[in-house]
Amino acid sequence: MLGGTGFVGRYLVNQLVKQGCRVRLLTRNRERHRDLLVWPGVEMIEANIHDAQVLHKYFDGCGTVINLAAMLNEKRHGDFHIVHVDLPRKVVQACMAHGVRRLLHMSALNANVRGLSHYLRSKGEGEGLVHGASTQGLQVTSFRPSVIFGPDDHFFNRFAQVMKMAPLVPVPCASAQFAPIFVGDVAHCFMVALQDHATIGQRYDLCGPKNYTMQQLMEYTAQVLGMRRRIIGLGPAASRVMASLMEFFPGKPFTRDNYLSMKTDSVCQDEFPAIFGTHRTALESVVPVYLNRRDQRSRYYGYRRSAGRD
Ligand SMILES: NC(=O)c1ccc[n+]([C@@H]2O[C@H](COP(=O)([O-])OP(=O)(O)OC[C@H]3O[C@@H](n4cnc5c(N)ncnc54)[C@H](OP(=O)(O)O)[C@@H]3O)[C@@H](O)[C@H]2O)c1
Repeated sequence: MLGGTGFVGRYLVNQLVKQGCRVRLLTRNRERHRDLLVWPGVEMIEANIHDAQVLHKYFDGCGTVINLAAMLNEKRHGDFHIVHVDLPRKVVQACMAHGVRRLLHMSALNANVRGLSHYLRSKGEGEGLVHGASTQGLQVTSFRPSVIFGPDDHFFNRFAQVMKMAPLVPVPCASAQFAPIFVGDVAHCFMVALQDHATIGQRYDLCGPKNYTMQQLMEYTAQVLGMRRRIIGLGPAASRVMASLMEFFPGKPFTRDNYLSMKTDSVCQDEFPAIFGTHRTALESVVPVYLNRRDQRSRYYGYRRSAGRD
């Protein structure tokens, strides 16, 4: 598995080992993810996954490859192409060279070679490329989720951090729509795909049960945290200015490319694919649990620090 150490990957690896699968995780930094070393059935290997020879070496003997590796922001121009296009191409070649029959590929909702952002275009190109290999016998399924939520997500946890910084919160692209889907439901789709051959060759848009605007999601986060915040929705021009500034902040919390991605609503046009069943987790039943738990934990560590016990 590539990208298996991230937010979605960890959840999926957990499901796989529960089903008795043996998982080989390739990572750029084994030490950073050392907690995964003790997971039963998980073999973690530090390797440069952009080196085709590495893929050839470690795909040998695998029945299925799962590629979750991706980035939301480029560190350097060209990174999107390297991770979202060049890497899937090498993955396909290594699969075919070593008789790996099955490839599960993670794309993103609205990924399209004609997408508005570089992120969406590169994801679209990578997705097209892996499905192109179907003609040569590779059994490919790809998943195109809207934003994914869950205990270690990059979405609500980030909103919660922003809420703690100031009483007034400007929200870029306030009217942009999302259909957040629970990480456990996404992992379930992967698990079904591993077992059901009807998923071969398919590309699945994955959305949660309800659509929300960005403004609604921010207001909901403040409500869950019990914080009184003035949430100010920004229109397109102000959002663009904010992106131009924030992409120079450490960690690039919001970039012009993110802004362009958000110009297309991240919601599904069709029903949830019936093959995965009908159950989808409502964010209202999960988000309060982990946001408040995280809040309690950070308060606890704050008390320890102020008592000099750290
Ligand atoms: N989270 C969402 O809301 C969301 C929504 C739609 C689609 N997706 C897609 O779902 C997949 C997983 O997302 P996630 O949220 O789990 O992401 P994540 O937590 O950021 O994890 C991404 C993984 O990709 C690997 N990676 C990142 N940059 C890399 C690079 N330059 N070279 C090689 N490997 C790199 C990392 O592995 P190592 O650090 O171990 O090398 C990391 O574990 C991605 O394909 C993403 O596009 C996510």
